[in-house]
Amino acid sequence: MILQEKIKTNFDDTELIDKIEQLKKEKNAILLAHFYVDEKIQDIADYVGDSLGLSQKAVKTNADMIVFAGVHFMAETAKILSPDKKVLIPDFDAGCSLANSCPPQEFGLFKEKYPDHIVISYINCSALIKTMSDIICTSGNAVQIVESFPKNQKILFAPDKNFGGYINRVTGRKMIFWNGACEVHDNLKTESIIKMKNKYPDAKVIAHPECKEQILELADFVGSTTALLNFTKKDKAKKFIVATESGILHQMRKESPQKEFYIVAKDDKSNCNDCSYMKMNSLQKLYLCMKNEYPQIHLNNEIIIKARKPIERMFEISRSLGLI
Ligand code: 13P
Ligand code: SF4
Repeated sequence: MILQEKIKTNFDDTELIDKIEQLKKEKNAILLAHFYVDEKIQDIADYVGDSLGLSQKAVKTNADMIVFAGVHFMAETAKILSPDKKVLIPDFDAGCSLANSCPPQEFGLFKEKYPDHIVISYINCSALIKTMSDIICTSGNAVQIVESFPKNQKILFAPDKNFGGYINRVTGRKMIFWNGACEVHDNLKTESIIKMKNKYPDAKVIAHPECKEQILELADFVGSTTALLNFTKKDKAKKFIVATESGILHQMRKESPQKEFYIVAKDDKSNCNDCSYMKMNSLQKLYLCMKNEYPQIHLNNEIIIKARKPIERMFEISRSLGLI
């Protein structure tokens, strides 16, 4: 049935965009997109943002349907926060190497070894990992969330060892880490940045905290995708070397057309650093998923209730600190 639809729908991008806009109205749907997805999708989204902004939108929306152009854990988070809404994802296989690096069963055994630690998990994890966490954080609030606990509180941070290490260096807290990483950020090389710095000596280096420590040491600014975007808007520099996923350049160029942006490529043979999961989102898949209302995120109620607690705790602390 879905295969037949695919064969029949031989539309060009303009037609697909029209059809998606029409479906949005007909189905009272909101289209949320992460900064890393294809720019054509970013341009028709009702909201484009980082994980923190997207999760807030998922709570606040009056739409009946949330269409999530991002990756699986993001759509799952939207379902946890808005269980009564239909949450769709254009490609069910759009996972996340970081979320995959933390299998729940192994994490459960790891956690058992540290009963006196609280578990702070980065939102880039599965719903099951969220049920095992005391509080969730995003790249937009992690430092403040960690600092909201007493200084002597022992913390188990999951799943990103790079991001955890960064928070640890900034806050000086007692932290241990799950050994996970994002393949898109973890593979970036210092040599690539040094080469680019030699080529563009007046450029500032900005990096996402999922990058390795050696990369972050070379950065003039470290932050979430939204923080990186805001930095490029406000900073006086005219050129930026950007150590994260290529998709963010679209909004940076839109916001600051007079500035120049250079992505740190994943290797010598390429000129980009794409997340293969984010790039699974296409206009064609987006149209089909809205038309067929498939694939949809389904979660068992018990998981929703347990996974929502640590996310709500994150919102409470973020609210009390004036972050949202
Ligand atoms: P942000 O929340 O900073 O957008 O990060 C999401 C992500 O997946 C980074 O790899
Ligand atoms: Fe996951 Fe990395 Fe892709 Fe972000 S960039 S969605 S952390 S694999």
